[in-house]
Amino acid sequence: MVKIAPSILSADFANLERDIQRISTADYVHVDVMDGMFVPNITIGIPVVASIRKTTELPLDVHLMIVQPVRYVEQFCDAGADLVTVHVESDTEENIHAALDKIHAKGKRAGIVLKPKTPAEAALPFLEKVDLILVMTVEPGFGGQKFMADQMEKVSALRALIDQRNPGCELEVDGGVDPVTCKTCIAAGANVLVAGSAVYKAADIPARIAELRG
Ligand code: DX5
Ligand code: ZN
Repeated sequence: MVKIAPSILSADFANLERDIQRISTADYVHVDVMDGMFVPNITIGIPVVASIRKTTELPLDVHLMIVQPVRYVEQFCDAGADLVTVHVESDTEENIHAALDKIHAKGKRAGIVLKPKTPAEAALPFLEKVDLILVMTVEPGFGGQKFMADQMEKVSALRALIDQRNPGCELEVDGGVDPVTCKTCIAAGANVLVAGSAVYKAADIPARIAELRG
């Protein structure tokens, strides 16, 4: 079954608990962490993740858009993240491996993220190690951008690699996912869909979450 991970980047940060309760029929809470360096925006940090942890039983899918995430992954795990993803562009291959190992050592799930210009092959050094691969379908940094359909070739290529070499690994897409583009993502082989504006702008959020499952 296709899983839905609403991004709280589109929530009302002054009413975060209320807005997390509104997505209780989803599968993950997607938390976008930005440092103003890796991406030109600053959002949520470790204390906010710890506070969110107390408000929901849903697994927290923490998407780190920060430089050298190896410096902070353990703190995000301790704050209550269930899954932590790091960008392959954010550090050396060696340090990305170290970040993934630190997440696993904390007993949490670890994943990698690919920006739109990063090819599928960039996932190869980590393919057997990760629990999830996230393909960005917008340039990371902001919600509400247009879906990049040209990323679907990468999703299909990664689906084939995952099926051959690490069938338990999840394949997630993030950016511009709505009731139309969700179908394209599912057809290409994604099984976890992140959606921010499409969920939080909906009049009926549970109905929208169901609709996004395709
Ligand atoms: C962008 C974030 C996304 C964003 C998605 O850098 O990683 O998770 O919130 O928002 P929508 O669904 O509105 O494109
Ligand atoms: Zn994200």
